[in-house]
Amino acid sequence: MPAIIIDGRSIALKVREEARVRAAALRGRGIIPCLAVILVGEDPASISYVTGKEKALAEAGMEGRDIRLPESAGEGELLSLIGKLNEDKSVHGILVQLPLPPHISEDRVITAIDPAKDVDGFHPVSVGNMVLGRRCFIPCTPNGVLRLLRETGINTQGSRAVVLGRSAIVGKPLSILLARREVNATVTLCHTGTKNLGEITRQAEILIAACGKPGMVSADMIKPGAAVIDVGVNRISDPSKKSGFRLAGDVDFRAVREKAGWITPVPGGVGPMTIAMLMLNVVEAAEVWV
Ligand code: GUN
Repeated sequence: MPAIIIDGRSIALKVREEARVRAAALRGRGIIPCLAVILVGEDPASISYVTGKEKALAEAGMEGRDIRLPESAGEGELLSLIGKLNEDKSVHGILVQLPLPPHISEDRVITAIDPAKDVDGFHPVSVGNMVLGRRCFIPCTPNGVLRLLRETGINTQGSRAVVLGRSAIVGKPLSILLARREVNATVTLCHTGTKNLGEITRQAEILIAACGKPGMVSADMIKPGAAVIDVGVNRISDPSKKSGFRLAGDVDFRAVREKAGWITPVPGGVGPMTIAMLMLNVVEAAEVWV
């Protein structure tokens, strides 16, 4: 029997509704949750992500303060803007869309954000708190993956989870979060240095692909009945599309769906969850002010 396809769009709508209700309660008390979204340059994928975030904020009854800087903007200019937003009491969250142009240090920029406004959860203080299991902003994509598993009723307790990819945004935080007591998975983190990858992935009851290589996860790497979560968002050139590209995940969807128990599509799986979890983080940042 082919896998159950996890509908990230509908689960994301439910989460966004939760954010909308909490935002309405805040507005009733005179607080309009506000996220400052900073985009440097004109990378098409980044523009599309930022537009999606701003649309979701408006739909949830929150303010998006849209700040666009030219590709030529200097690091000092960006740091001083962040300093001002840190001080601005009407701004509850600050998000700098990544990647930044090569002449700007992402590390210095992320570190300049007040951790209380770090709704991306990328600041070293947020990462440290997450590792220690303290209350903090959890990065939106990993948090979205956890929420998908929970909403779908996939058992994580005592199960074996394998994460492909060690990025700071997805793979690394997921490996930590899946091992938390309340999730209780046994986690293996695989990366480009991993030997006998298939041997490891075939043991996974939960397999999370976040390696950025289109179609890398093939059917022979899957344990029958496994939950396969595809975090990959790869743009593949496709002249037959109006946009000139199509999206492909890291998983060979057509083959893997015949063997897995659950699978997320691309698009329509993890992607919508990232924005939904961001909405919750923004509401939470604003609730601290109540
Ligand atoms: N670029 C790709 N994903 C993300 C994200 O989750 N947050 C930010 N700020 N930039 C990104």
